[in-house]
Amino acid sequence: MLRSDLCGKLTAEDIGRQVVLCGWVNRRREHGADLAFVDLRDHSGLVQCVVDNQVDVRSEYVVKITGTVAKRPEGTVNADLTTGQVEITDTDVEVLSAAEPPPFPLDDRAKDVDETVRLKYRYLDIRRSAMQKNLRVRSQVNAAIRSAMVEQDFVEVETPMLMPSTPEGAREFLVPSRMQPGNFYALPQSPQLYKQLLMVGGMDRYFQIARCLRDEDLRADRQYEFTQLDMEMSFVEVDDVLQAAETTVLDAAEAVTGIRPDEVKRITWHEAMNDYGTDKPDIRFDMKLQELTGIFSDTEFKAFASSESIKGICASGAAESYGRNKLDSLTDQAKSFGAKGLVWLKVNDESSVDSPVAKFLSDAEIASIIKAFGAAAGDLILIVADSWHTTCTVLGELRNSLGRPPVSQGPFEYLWVVDFPLFVGQDDNGNPIPGHHPFCHPHPEDIPKLETDPMEVRAWAYDLVLNGWELGSGSIRIHDPELQKRVFKLLGISDEEVEAKFGFFLNPFRYGTPPHGGFAYGIDRLAAILAGEENIREVIAFPKPSSGADPMTNAPGPISADVLEELGVKELPKTT
Ligand code: AMO
Ligand code: AMP
Repeated sequence: MLRSDLCGKLTAEDIGRQVVLCGWVNRRREHGADLAFVDLRDHSGLVQCVVDNQVDVRSEYVVKITGTVAKRPEGTVNADLTTGQVEITDTDVEVLSAAEPPPFPLDDRAKDVDETVRLKYRYLDIRRSAMQKNLRVRSQVNAAIRSAMVEQDFVEVETPMLMPSTPEGAREFLVPSRMQPGNFYALPQSPQLYKQLLMVGGMDRYFQIARCLRDEDLRADRQYEFTQLDMEMSFVEVDDVLQAAETTVLDAAEAVTGIRPDEVKRITWHEAMNDYGTDKPDIRFDMKLQELTGIFSDTEFKAFASSESIKGICASGAAESYGRNKLDSLTDQAKSFGAKGLVWLKVNDESSVDSPVAKFLSDAEIASIIKAFGAAAGDLILIVADSWHTTCTVLGELRNSLGRPPVSQGPFEYLWVVDFPLFVGQDDNGNPIPGHHPFCHPHPEDIPKLETDPMEVRAWAYDLVLNGWELGSGSIRIHDPELQKRVFKLLGISDEEVEAKFGFFLNPFRYGTPPHGGFAYGIDRLAAILAGEENIREVIAFPKPSSGADPMTNAPGPISADVLEELGVKELPKTT
């Protein structure tokens, strides 16, 4: 090593030691005519070095400083710094590499720097302590996951990046084949098909820290490229998969935070929708959806008469802070999520409210609403009447707008949501659409309803939610080719189409397939929340900004005509 010690690790115990340090000049300050202070930085932190003022070093120069650890003079101790009691004196400075002035300050002020600039100079952004911490948190997460999986007898297997197009729902990135012009590989949305084939192959328990690619709109919790902890197990039931997955997540959380979260609570999808209005409830705050339909069975209020479902939420003490403009914008928000309108009531006492619709409601109805919530003076009640699904969804969105803290703000509340419906709605031809993917096992109790009442069929499918973010999803898979055929038939996919699209995947199931199931969760999402970040870009070394174009490498870029020709790809004239 060129160095003997790390900058940030020196303490009063090292006083008197001769050390060799290497790092970047964080800051240089003049100290009288003869001396200068150089704060030397490496990944471990900073230490102050007293150098000859003649030494020509400036911010971000890479230097090697040899010197003695000394006690700082009385009154100059910096309590904010681990190394604040010491400084390096009698120094000899060797410049290892000069530096141009960086385009933005590399301290916490970088948070205010435009993200495109941060990403254009990501290699400098990564020098900041926040990014140093985040990438190290991520590495801790990976290490904890890997050892939790190995300890549970999972085998790490790498699956192909070049694969056929698959039916998982997201738009794929395609790669033209030079050897088979006109044909394309798809990059994996996930290793789903391969991991199931590994179960046919008798691997019993598979895992992979898997890179996945999806051509989706980018958001705080979405990148084109992301990483899953992907797993699959043979001869298991739902509980076994949840247990194994939970162990890895909680191990990772414990590795980063030092605290092991409690066993993860479980609710059904129906409870999640009914009580929180979403399949990914943020249970850090209460404000549950309250059932009110019964109160309005004989109502005179037209908007509520004969509605399938009337529910509300109550925000404690929010009446005062919600003036007309904010209430109008909540109403617009409700409508944008599909509501016909939104009723708001500000509670005065146990029998009276301020509300534009108060005149349409009977005294008994008003008193019953207040009682249902146990509401008090100053509370704000919001009510929606619609189909059950719309009522719940709209109120779920409003609940989040009113009460949801930033995702990475503690406490960390993990939640299993189980028994998802097998299908979600219908396509243009009236065929049901799979909730997850077409290989999810229907709940055995509901299999008789497949053809007669498909929308009522539950799946052996589950999600893990953390602070309102979907962390992961999985299911027990169909391993019986006949049941799989039935499901494809329901989806309106013909035998020929099944053979053409999924033959390579389903035919192997005829050779003896163990019952199996699995799960995958987003490591970017888990690491971001554990690192206290609101955006997964903060825990990815080289992410894409929301435009999808990388300001550092300028990818994606044009490809020359001769390369395109070799690949058998022709560029269409631009239409705009
Ligand atoms: P699913 O599609 O739900 O399931 O993905 C699992 C988890 O991967 C993460 N994730 C993403 N993270 C960042 N950016 C993205 N664009 C992105 N898309 C997904 C999420 C999500 O919960 N094969 C199935 C799993 C299975 O059934 O075993 C699958 O991929 O955290
Ligand atoms: P209207 O009768 O359409 O003028 O609506 C009267 C009030 O009830 C307005 O404040 C609407 O926003 C509200 N409203 C109308 N329909 C609904 C509904 N389905 N659920 C909740 N509020 C509604």
